[in-house]
Amino acid sequence: MSLSFEIGKVADGGGRRGALVLPHGVVETPVFMPVGTAASVKAVEQGVIERLGTSGAQIILANTYHLYLRPGHELVARMGGVHKFMSWERPMLTDSGGFQVFSLSSLRKVTPDGVEFRSHLDGSKHFFSPEHSMDVQIALGADVMMVFDECVEHPATYERTRDSMALTHAWARRSRGHFEANKERVPWFAERGGKTQSLFGIVQGGMYANLRKESAERLMELDLPGYAIGGLAVGEPREVTREMIARTLEWLPKDKPRYVMGVGYPDEIEEYAKMGVDMMDCVLPTRAGRHGLLFARDGDGAVVRMNIKRKEYAEDQGPIDAACGCMVCARYSRAYLRHLFVAGEPLALTLNSVHNLHFYLATMERVRKGLADAVDAFGEFNTEPTS
Ligand code: GUN
Ligand code: ZN
Repeated sequence: MSLSFEIGKVADGGGRRGALVLPHGVVETPVFMPVGTAASVKAVEQGVIERLGTSGAQIILANTYHLYLRPGHELVARMGGVHKFMSWERPMLTDSGGFQVFSLSSLRKVTPDGVEFRSHLDGSKHFFSPEHSMDVQIALGADVMMVFDECVEHPATYERTRDSMALTHAWARRSRGHFEANKERVPWFAERGGKTQSLFGIVQGGMYANLRKESAERLMELDLPGYAIGGLAVGEPREVTREMIARTLEWLPKDKPRYVMGVGYPDEIEEYAKMGVDMMDCVLPTRAGRHGLLFARDGDGAVVRMNIKRKEYAEDQGPIDAACGCMVCARYSRAYLRHLFVAGEPLALTLNSVHNLHFYLATMERVRKGLADAVDAFGEFNTEPTS
């Protein structure tokens, strides 16, 4: 048994609190996962990641595509896996490389077998298949890995979306087969008492609800321990994102973790968590921070965006957000943060990222507490493990 998921009662709106038990620890859901693309949450070291919010990030994400290209998954495996390599002993998840191949590499050639592409680093040629993605993800050794999929561009025609989705389903089946045959090769298999990783499916289907339904049904035939909703936040209006999530949640199993990939703004992650999404990840808190964009709340609790390079902060001695509670807001003024950013000091990237990540994690902590308060009998977990 390498994963169990227990949920409390479902609140009005569909939100639920849960506990996802993985080989490297327990993740309380709904959860936001900071993105550590190349085995590093950009500009923030692991010791700080462990102290964000009340008790630190519970799980972080890394990318198969990046670690395969550099330093190479075999090197990471020789270092004991990605946890040991980066000295992060809490749970991790790796994305399969599908999405990154489509968004970062050039000269892609998709065949039923897989994708040939050129590296965004040096133009060298590579080939990713579902089997290869599984081999790389097993070598990396994250607690949760993802099937190899194709994320269709937006907008895409019905036919294009349907054909791409069919390819994703075939690849999901092959991903599962190869994972099951090789899962004991994870670097920490013996050390963790024979535990293995868990493989999640990814629902595609673009902006077509009937294709999303079909995708959920096909993937459920594979009886995977968790399901993601992919292909969103690709340029569609936010109402469409919400609609696709709401519909797809109805079709996915209620007793398994449900993960929406690559979203979103702070108010979005709150909204989706209250609809019953258990896991989310996004580069936004770190990427926005590196561009000087900080998230804060006004007196009414509404999210506001601050551009720290603005002149009005030049002599502002207050913190980013007096109610924040992060280590940056406890110590540094807007004036100092503006100076660092304008002067191009690397510390600006770190402090801005730390504040934004804390903001995201604190938002999810508040949502979890709200969900617990909203249902009388939270604590009455379903105790049946899901895989
Ligand atoms: N990250 C954001 N969206 C996606 C998606 O559709 N597929 C994968 N693999 N990763 C994603
Ligand atoms: Zn702060």
